[in-house]
Amino acid sequence: MSGQSTHHEPRPAETADTDDGGFPPGPDGLPVLGNTLQFTSDPAAFYDELASYGDVVGYSVARQRMTTVLHPDLVEQVLVTESDSFGKWDLSDFGNQFAPEGLLLTEGEQWREQRTQAQPAFQLDRIRSYGDAMAGYARDMVEEFDDGETVAANERFSELTLRILADSLLDLDVDGSEAGAAITRAARALNERADPDGLSTFVPTWVPTPSNRRYKRAMGEFEATVDRLIAERRDADADEHDDLLAMLMQAGDGGDGMSDTELRDTMLTFLFAGHETTSLALTYTTYLLAEHPDVADRLRAEVDEAVDGDRPDTFDVFGLELLDRVCSESMRLYPPAYVIFREAREDVELGGYEIPADTKLTLPQFRIHRDGRWYDAPDEFRPERWTDRFEESLPEYAYFPFGGGPRHCIGMRFAMLELKLVLATLVRHCRFEYVADEPPQPRFAASYQPEDDVRLRVTKR
Ligand code: HEM
Repeated sequence: MSGQSTHHEPRPAETADTDDGGFPPGPDGLPVLGNTLQFTSDPAAFYDELASYGDVVGYSVARQRMTTVLHPDLVEQVLVTESDSFGKWDLSDFGNQFAPEGLLLTEGEQWREQRTQAQPAFQLDRIRSYGDAMAGYARDMVEEFDDGETVAANERFSELTLRILADSLLDLDVDGSEAGAAITRAARALNERADPDGLSTFVPTWVPTPSNRRYKRAMGEFEATVDRLIAERRDADADEHDDLLAMLMQAGDGGDGMSDTELRDTMLTFLFAGHETTSLALTYTTYLLAEHPDVADRLRAEVDEAVDGDRPDTFDVFGLELLDRVCSESMRLYPPAYVIFREAREDVELGGYEIPADTKLTLPQFRIHRDGRWYDAPDEFRPERWTDRFEESLPEYAYFPFGGGPRHCIGMRFAMLELKLVLATLVRHCRFEYVADEPPQPRFAASYQPEDDVRLRVTKR
C-alpha cells in the first residue's frame, strides 16, 4: 500500500461540466475489460490512480458506472446527511444470495424494524455479559500456546473470534457439538467464497462449481442448525439462554418479532460480519505491537496496573487510554472492513458533480485513513497521535472503521470490548515477535485478509 497523498480539491460545480453531463472525471477511455482487470489484479494501485483524479472519481467496472469518494465531508454526506439517497449494493446483481433477509442487506421498513429489534441486544449492559466468554476463551488460547512457539496469528484469532461468537450468539461450544461444527464449516465456506482470488465471488451461486457445492452444503447445514435451535427454543423456555438469539426472540414476544427466516438470516449475518472483522483487527494489532515493543511494554504496564487476577474483566479495560489508542491506530492503518459500498437511489450531487441514479459508490477507508491531509506520517503506527485535541481537529469521517450514519456497525461495542479484552489478556501473558521480513500484505477479499499467514513467535511471561 502506498499511502500516497496526491489529491486535488474537487472541482467547483461551474467547471465540472464534462461530455458526460457532470459525471466526475476518472480513468475512462480504457477498454471496459482492461479497467476491470486492473481493478481485480492490483486494487491498491488502482485506487492510487483514482486518487490522482481528485476526491470524487468516476469510472466503470464491467459496464457498471462507479464513483469513488475520497473526502471525509463527502463520506459524511453519503453515510449520514443524505443517507436516504443511497442504498446498499444489490448483491443479487452478482448472483449472490447471501442472507438477503439479514440486517446487513435489508432496506427500508424491514431494515428499520430489524435494527430496532436487534439494538437492545447490543447495548452496553448486555454486551458486558459476554465479557466473561471473551476473556475466558482468550485465556484458554494463551494456555494452548507453547513458550517459543510460532503461530499463524490470523488463524488462531479466527478460531478465537468464532468461539466467542458461537457462544455469544447461540450459546454453542464450537468444539463440543455437531451444531458447533456446522457453524465452523459455514464460517469457512463464507470466507472461501468471499475470496476474489478464488473467482467464485463472480460466479453465481447456482453454478455448481465444487466451491459452490461446498458453500451451499455448508449454508444449508447452518440454516438447518439455526432453524432447529429456534424451534427448540420456541417449544421450551427461552429464558434458559443468555445469548443474542434469546434477546432477538424475546424482542418479538409481543407477536411483532422477526420471522424464523429473518432470525436465521440475522444469525448468519452476525456470523459473517462479526467473525473475520474482529479476527483481523486482532491480527494486525498484535503484529503492530510485535513490531513496536516499546508500545507493547507501555501497554503491558497499563494493563498490569488495571487488572488484578489472571484475566481482565469488562470494567478493567474501560478507560485504558493506551489500549484505546492502540486499537484506534491499528484500525486506522488496517481497517478490517476496508471499503463501504453504496448505490445512488436517485440522481445526486456530490462535490460539484452529478451522480446519476444507480451509480455504485465506494468509500475506501483504507485510503482515507492514510491521507496525508488528515494524518502526519500517515503510514506510521503512532498510537500517541490519538489525543483529544487531535480527535477534535480531525474531520469526522477521516476515520470510520465502523461506518457511520443509520447503518453504522451494530456490533461496534461488542467488537471493541472483545478487542480490548483479548489484547489485554495477550499482553499480560505473552510477548510477540514478528518472524517474516516483509510486513503483512492485505488482500482485497471480503475483508482485509493478509495475503500470507501473519506468523508471530510467542514468548510467555
Ligand atoms: C472490528 C470488527 C468490526 C468491524 C471493523 C466492523 C465494520 C462494520 C462496518 C464498516 C459496517 C457498515 C457497513 C456499511 O455501511 O455498508 C458494519 C455493519 C454491520 N456490522 Fe460490523 N464490524 C465489526 C464487528 C461486528 C460484529 C462483532 C458484529 C455482530 C456481532 C457486526 C455486525 C454488523 C451488522 C449486523 C452490520 C449491518 C448493520 C446495518 O446495516 O444496520 N459487526 N460493520
